[in-house]
Amino acid sequence: MAPLRMVILGRQGSGKGTQSERLTETFGCIHLSTGDVLRAAVAEGTELGRQAQAVMDSGSLVGDDIMNGIVRDRLSCADIAAGGVLLDGFPRTSDQADALEAILGGLDHRLDVAVNIEVPIDVVTARMLDRGRSDDTLEAIRRRLELYEEQTAPLLDWFDARGLLATVDGVGTPDEVFERVVAAVELHRRRA
Ligand code: AP5
Ligand code: MG
Repeated sequence: MAPLRMVILGRQGSGKGTQSERLTETFGCIHLSTGDVLRAAVAEGTELGRQAQAVMDSGSLVGDDIMNGIVRDRLSCADIAAGGVLLDGFPRTSDQADALEAILGGLDHRLDVAVNIEVPIDVVTARMLDRGRSDDTLEAIRRRLELYEEQTAPLLDWFDARGLLATVDGVGTPDEVFERVVAAVELHRRRA
């Protein structure tokens, strides 16, 4: 089967990272989490990490140019060209969505599906407070969720207009949610 190229969407704390680990095992594609790329840069103390740390801790978004550059470089790598990709945390602005379309078009690749994991605000807030990552303070969580509604939620229509959107209920055990996500991916792949 052709390599899977998909996006996982949903509020902060909806379980994108949790589901991505399982999805990459099942479908063999590479997990590209822009949040993980930034956290690795912070841990390594690179210039990117130094710039990103304060932005992440405040719950704001790192600039589109930086993020688009990271994704452009990574999507051109041979492992992703051959094995497919699961994008997690990108795109999250309309500028990033347009950049993704241009990058994939330039590589002659296309997306199979964008799965939106739907989880209410009170549930994701409780999950993140429980997780306790350095940007999981009440203030940063509020800011991230606000930016999600303003900048990222409109992308659901963007993906829907391209026939790529599948929304699944993200409340339930991780295994239950995984079954729903896999069913959505398989349905879209059959249609493609
Ligand atoms: P990022 O790392 O993407 O964080 P986020 O958007 O805040 O999303 P999370 O990782 O918090 O949520 P998730 O959906 O992965 O949930 P998880 O599986 O962990 O971004 C961090 C920062 O980097 C941003 O704020 C921004 O500054 C910057 N950034 C990143 N990408 C960017 C971009 N493209 N442009 C600009 N800036 C960017 O689950 C959450 C918790 O819930 C876990 O503890 C998990 O164990 C638990 N859980 C998961 N599923 C379930 C379940 N079914 N039931 C119960 N608990 C569950
Ligand atoms: Mg995550």
